[in-house]
Amino acid sequence: MKQSSLRSAIDNATQSLIDAHVASPEVDARLIAAHLLGVPATQLILAEPTPEFEADYAALIARRVEREPLQHILGTAPFGVHDLKVGPGVFIPRLETEVLAEWAVEQAPTGTVVDFGTGSGALAIYIAERARPELVIGVEKSPVAIAAARGNAAAHSNVRIIEGDMTDPDLLFELTGTVDLIVANPPYVPFVPEESGELEPEVYRDPLEAVFSGDDGMDAIRGLIPVAARLLAPGGKLGIEHDDTTAALTRELVEADGSFENIRNMPDLTGRDRFVTASKLRTN
Ligand SMILES: C[S@@+](CC[C@H](N)C(=O)[O-])C[C@H]1O[C@@H](n2cnc3c(N)ncnc32)[C@H](O)[C@@H]1O
Repeated sequence: MKQSSLRSAIDNATQSLIDAHVASPEVDARLIAAHLLGVPATQLILAEPTPEFEADYAALIARRVEREPLQHILGTAPFGVHDLKVGPGVFIPRLETEVLAEWAVEQAPTGTVVDFGTGSGALAIYIAERARPELVIGVEKSPVAIAAARGNAAAHSNVRIIEGDMTDPDLLFELTGTVDLIVANPPYVPFVPEESGELEPEVYRDPLEAVFSGDDGMDAIRGLIPVAARLLAPGGKLGIEHDDTTAALTRELVEADGSFENIRNMPDLTGRDRFVTASKLRTN
């Protein structure tokens, strides 16, 4: 296959993705081609397509036309400087969560950090690598995500992935009052049925229990706040990601717990409040 045919294959794929209302058709068409050819997207111009390329490319583009997430087709999702393995059953890490990851690193934790609902291990690995605390524990309920997170974290000796429920009053009981920092990107989207068409179809390819949390989106957040309050050391920090419709409610719940001070809303990169941060009271 010649370079000119590669270019026209990418152009045709882009048009198919436009017709399927994919948000970033050209980028996706180029990334899928680069993935197949084993080159960075910036070097597609130098790539030499194999005879099988045309058929293999058409098959992958057909999956994207069906709105399978790009990250499932590529098998990885970027988070910070790493590409993490993801797939069906594992939540695809989102760019906005890097704001929470950076906030966590700025807190400079040295002892134990806990990541509630670790999914692919994205936050746990980011914090372990950048802040280098003694230990980061990723807590996760889904066996598929636990396996993925363990694989992604294999090279990080200060990360441990455990099976657990972030709303379990007895979670990590032996660490009560000792944890430096807790981050949580829990399921928080108010339940929206797929047929309503309000959310992009790709969202429903994430595990539903990773995305939705009751009619108001607050079930997991309600449950995790007292668990975090028990686990944190005096002065320990809590950062929770939430839906853009629940900033006030999340903040009120943290305030109502009575165990925290310095309770603040924090915006994402587009300026919308998407996180609540707080410090555990030094006296109780
Ligand atoms: C929104 S995803 C976030 C994943 C990852 N932290 C990230 O930022 O990419 C929420 C994760 O929490 C997990 N989860 C949901 N409910 C849970 C619970 N009660 N306890 C522990 N994990 C839970 C889901 O399986 C999913 O992996």
